[in-house]
Amino acid sequence: MAENTQNPAAGSAPAKPKPAAPAAAKPAAPGAAKPAAPVAAKPAAAKVESSPAGVFKPPVDRPDANPYQSSRVSALGAWFQERFYVVMPIIEYLKKKEVPKHRLSFWYYFGGLGMFFFMIQVVTGLLLLQYYKPTEAEAFASFVFIQSEVPFGWLIRQVHAWSANLMIMMLFIHMFSTFFMKSYRKPRELMWVSGFILLVLSLGFGFTGYLLPWNELAFFATQVGTEVPKVAPGGAFMVEILRGGPEVSAETLTRMFSLHVVLLPGLLLLVLSAHLMLVQILGTSSPIGYKEAGLIKGYEKFFPTFLAKDGIGWLIGFALLIYLSALYPWEIGVKADPLSSAPIGIKPEWYFWAQFQLLKDFKFEGGELVAIILFTVGAIVWIMVPFLDRQASKEQRSPIFTIIGLLVLAFLLVNTYRVYAEYSALVK
Ligand code: HEM
Repeated sequence: MAENTQNPAAGSAPAKPKPAAPAAAKPAAPGAAKPAAPVAAKPAAAKVESSPAGVFKPPVDRPDANPYQSSRVSALGAWFQERFYVVMPIIEYLKKKEVPKHRLSFWYYFGGLGMFFFMIQVVTGLLLLQYYKPTEAEAFASFVFIQSEVPFGWLIRQVHAWSANLMIMMLFIHMFSTFFMKSYRKPRELMWVSGFILLVLSLGFGFTGYLLPWNELAFFATQVGTEVPKVAPGGAFMVEILRGGPEVSAETLTRMFSLHVVLLPGLLLLVLSAHLMLVQILGTSSPIGYKEAGLIKGYEKFFPTFLAKDGIGWLIGFALLIYLSALYPWEIGVKADPLSSAPIGIKPEWYFWAQFQLLKDFKFEGGELVAIILFTVGAIVWIMVPFLDRQASKEQRSPIFTIIGLLVLAFLLVNTYRVYAEYSALVK
């Protein structure tokens, strides 16, 4: 435990730090509140210098003694505490957070799992960046080099590709589980809104990352994907913005690369900070009526109990990730040739299959525009759910929204399966 030899007041700080902090703040620095602080600080310092204990206190304009002086921490912990004592109340606050235990508690782990896979993406993405070259001439060759020449390059690449898929899968599970538990209800509306933005950004990562190996499949899938907005009013402009020109070209690669490694990570980190801050401030919700029906079996501390259990989930997720990366590698394919014709069976990544199928089903005159409008309106309604589901916000059950959620889930699953069935038959 570090001793504060400079400040006699600190030594006498009470063991229970919280109530002492505000009280101690005022008398310790009488000059701090006044504008002429340096002048006012002098007599205070002189007073301490001539104190009977004879302890020297430097004339530092410090508003507060460290109120956490006597808490039980290591010497290193005390060193940091003394310097960062202003944030200590936040840590104390986090330690108070509790997570309810009930038969649906299992679903609370998926947000953390999504975050875990995102962290893996950041680390492996940075490693891949050491060798990847984002140009039309070199992109594919650099992928082949990473895969075959760089020590463990194959593993890093496979982990990055698999972790992206697992992250999006976890986010879908997280979204639907919070939907069915109505966790979005008052006061957690912004958790839902920020979460949905995170999902859109994550899908953006998938879309922009797909083109980076510059292989045939990715090239033609990007051509199909970036074509979609064309039928909407002002869509041609949107297509040009996405492609950096009228066609998918080297410009598109530069554009996708910069979105993938700069803009999207920056935005995601910003929104994720807000999402996680809300999780901490508002705490974890329990399903409607569980408290009243006595279905809550108790509460466990977020720190360290729930976090430790989160850690077990992460270890299982990591084991699965390594297993998939080693045994089911993603192929590199053949280098994209913009002049060749599109191979059969071009399709986007699985998380876009539902929309893809909808576009295919609406192949009549003007049908694509109808499909885009349907999807956009659907997404707007989905993000507004916390504000539309008034019943849930009054802590009353809202079966209509449960049915809406089931219909959305069924639509996504059925359409995804249809693409899977059709395209696996094509490959055979
Ligand atoms: C990068 C994406 C995301 C990350 C890392 C993330 C992370 C988390 C974490 C760690 C929690 C607390 C534990 C839990 O309940 O699982 C949480 C809660 C929550 N998240 Fe997310 N989340 C993400 C995306 C989403 C999405 C897509 C939605 C929905 C559209 C969403 C909505 C919510 C809600 C409503 C809660 C509150 C749960 C409650 O209090 O019971 N999140 N999120």
